Amino acid sequence: MGYNIEIYKSAQKTMDMRRLRAEEELDIRREDIYRRRPRVKEIEQRLVHIAAAAAKSVITGANKKEVLEDLKIKSLALQDELSSILKSSGLPENYLEPWYSCSECNDTGFIDGKMCRCMKQLVRQTAYEELNNISPLSLCSFETFSPEYYSKNRRIDDSEVTEYAYMSKVLERMKRYADNFDTYSEGMIFAGKTGLGKTHLSLAIAGKLIEKGFGVIYVSAPDILSRLETNQFSGRSDERQADQQLLQDCDLLIIDDLGTEFVTKFTCAAIYNIINTRLNSGKPMIISTNLSTDELERTYGSRMVSRMVGMLKDIEFFGSDIRQMKRTNTRY
Ligand SMILES: Nc1ncnc2c1ncn2[C@@H]1O[C@H](COP(=O)(O)OP(=O)(O)O)[C@@H](O)[C@H]1O
Ligand SMILES: [Mg+2]
Ligand SMILES: [Zn+2]
Repeated sequence: MGYNIEIYKSAQKTMDMRRLRAEEELDIRREDIYRRRPRVKEIEQRLVHIAAAAAKSVITGANKKEVLEDLKIKSLALQDELSSILKSSGLPENYLEPWYSCSECNDTGFIDGKMCRCMKQLVRQTAYEELNNISPLSLCSFETFSPEYYSKNRRIDDSEVTEYAYMSKVLERMKRYADNFDTYSEGMIFAGKTGLGKTHLSLAIAGKLIEKGFGVIYVSAPDILSRLETNQFSGRSDERQADQQLLQDCDLLIIDDLGTEFVTKFTCAAIYNIINTRLNSGKPMIISTNLSTDELERTYGSRMVSRMVGMLKDIEFFGSDIRQMKRTNTRY
């Protein structure tokens, strides 16, 4: 799968930084042990000389075998001495080697010209972060979601259930959803007027799942559609494809504010494509919208909408605009 070249560059930069850091940390450890055990410096210098002498003897060739054998014995003795110094100082065997975060590629990102697992993971992570624009995540958690913003008097439709009781249940259910999430979890539609906590709860779920290591993409419908559209019509269809691939492959896709985007033939087809592909693969998604099913149908056609409504669990949000309540310091 292809990603935007900037994503590779950024991942490569992170790898370079990891490698450099490992090497700088080694320098610091080395300086430190030289100070405490000066003999270590001598040993290392001798080992360097021995390596040079060995190389020279290979080239010049006189008494090659005997000379090499002699150097090898000396070198092994020095290495043994070094080991026992480290040991007696309570230091690990690899104290004087760089501690790379990936021992497979030594933080180069490549093994025999092929991308290492760690680099693939990093590219993926970087791509997720770019699409996610994660900044608001930390503010919208389960901990900051309070049922106190929902009325203890007003009831849902004609039932006995108060908005407070109902939304408390929704919160519990969403926590369970995040706790038990796997890639076969059901998808959901968050429906309801603006300011009722749909975005807040979907970000809370996203935050929890990202913490658990799942690949989550959170996008608002207008943002992702304009991004896809720009890339498509400015000749960067590779990038559009990479984005689309990520939208398909991620463990959970969250599309926020469906219906607020500027609807064109392109956006309609793109949304249709994203939603249908997810539904077909059975991978979970959370769609939130201020629109009613009727309104959605008018925009996207009844075929997609009825499929979407049929396959995704409907979670209705009730209450009053919490953004407004916070502004005027109102609570129930
Ligand atoms: N139950 C809640 N407890 C605390 N803050 C909330 C709650 N629900 C919503 N908010 C806050 O109110 C504002 C509007 O909520 P938001 O999730 O954006 O609504 P929606 O997506 O339904 O329009 C946000 O700042 C959000 O953090
Ligand atoms: Mg919202
Ligand atoms: Zn690696």
